[in-house]
Amino acid sequence: MKNKAYDVNDLRLASDGKKRIEWAANYMPVLRLIRERFAKDKPLKGLRIAACLHVTTETANLCQTLKAGGAEVALCASNPLSTQDDVAASLVKHDRISVFAIRGENRKIYYDHVFAAIDRKPHITMDDGCDVVSTIHSKRKDLLKGVMGGTEETTTGVIRLRAMEKDKVLGYPIIAVNDSNTKHLFDNRYGTGQSTLDGILRATNVLIAGSTVVIAGYGWCGRGVAVRAKGHGANVIVTEVNPLVALEAVMDGFQVMPMAEAAPLGDVFVTLTGNTSVIRSEHFRRMKDGAIVCNSGHFNVELDLVSLKKMSKSVREVRPFVEEFRLKNGKRVHILGDGRLINLAAAEGHPAMVMDMSFANQAYSAEYLAKNHRKLQNKVYCVPENIDANISALKLKSKGIRIDKLTREQTKYLASWQEGT
Ligand SMILES: NC(=O)c1ccc[n+]([C@@H]2O[C@H](COP(=O)([O-])OP(=O)(O)OC[C@H]3O[C@@H](n4cnc5c(N)ncnc54)[C@H](O)[C@@H]3O)[C@@H](O)[C@H]2O)c1
Repeated sequence: MKNKAYDVNDLRLASDGKKRIEWAANYMPVLRLIRERFAKDKPLKGLRIAACLHVTTETANLCQTLKAGGAEVALCASNPLSTQDDVAASLVKHDRISVFAIRGENRKIYYDHVFAAIDRKPHITMDDGCDVVSTIHSKRKDLLKGVMGGTEETTTGVIRLRAMEKDKVLGYPIIAVNDSNTKHLFDNRYGTGQSTLDGILRATNVLIAGSTVVIAGYGWCGRGVAVRAKGHGANVIVTEVNPLVALEAVMDGFQVMPMAEAAPLGDVFVTLTGNTSVIRSEHFRRMKDGAIVCNSGHFNVELDLVSLKKMSKSVREVRPFVEEFRLKNGKRVHILGDGRLINLAAAEGHPAMVMDMSFANQAYSAEYLAKNHRKLQNKVYCVPENIDANISALKLKSKGIRIDKLTREQTKYLASWQEGT
């Protein structure tokens, strides 16, 4: 990979990618406004950014925005199965952005691509799952001194970065984009909610109505998928480990039980926990013949596929993105998208309308790091509150929705403690 300007599947796909990137842009009005301002103010002038994100049409719009702000961008994939090859080609051909990503790349090439992006000696890193930060901290420590800060897109990445901060090994400040309200309340809930079902449907064409859908993890992502599955007419079962969250699922009207009890009942299983081995051999063994199992959490370790393989007598692909594991007990388990984020493997990831806000947070956070990095310590920071408020106001405005303003009397009332009944 050394000295390669880019590594994508096929540059001839570029014109298809360009059309799809433009289509996504129609639904990203907040990012468009930021891009217009960036083009004038150039807040990222002279900065090199290494971004490790899903290579999708929405990410392409973010890269264009960063470039408009004056940055030099190198992009690699944050998942081997989520890259849209036409988008990668278009970014190289039409935007002169160095992309290192090929859909279906093996583990070695995946990491060669991460190294290729960080070889550009970034001032700012952008991660979705912490792969760039952990690669720099473990294998390219020489780069640490040149990095002014980084951003992190997803829950799993933020958890790892907070663990690094706690162990005092984090070498530069990070903005936790995931923790911004205009990110996780919308992207994780509505984006994952809709696109996870989209991925399952595209892969299987199964009827959700009347099916029993088991959702592991009732966090922001799990809530989104559970509500949408219910809306399609599914009987939804939730599994959880946190009593408070489990209680919330009960009050929201879902059945809650351990995975061991849900295993024989489910027709479709989706893990969204950010944890490991949530569905294991003892669960696979008890499932109905033909059960459909997928993951929409960050890493595919949520499903113990190593054990599943060991307990199977044969494995074959029965449809694109669907592998049938025939167990020694004769039953079949269908695994979707190799256990990778199903919304990105079998569908197109989150709709642009929601990524507009997530990536507005990314663009603003990069600008914030460029301006304020000297004041920051090697910690994980939240996105500043004014950025969050600004993004929600812009999003409402772009949808033509106006809201009430506090009257002077109301402002005074809310600030006072003397007034009672
Ligand atoms: N598919 C996507 O596009 C997408 C988008 C955003 C986030 N994510 C990823 O999805 C995962 C979940 O994100 P989130 O924001 O919902 O996190 P969250 O922290 O809000 O929720 C995770 C929930 O899983 C529960 N959990 C943990 N271990 C469990 C287990 N063994 N069994 C059952 N429940 C368990 C936790 O108690 C928690 O309530 C993360 O890996 C995140 O990075 C994916």
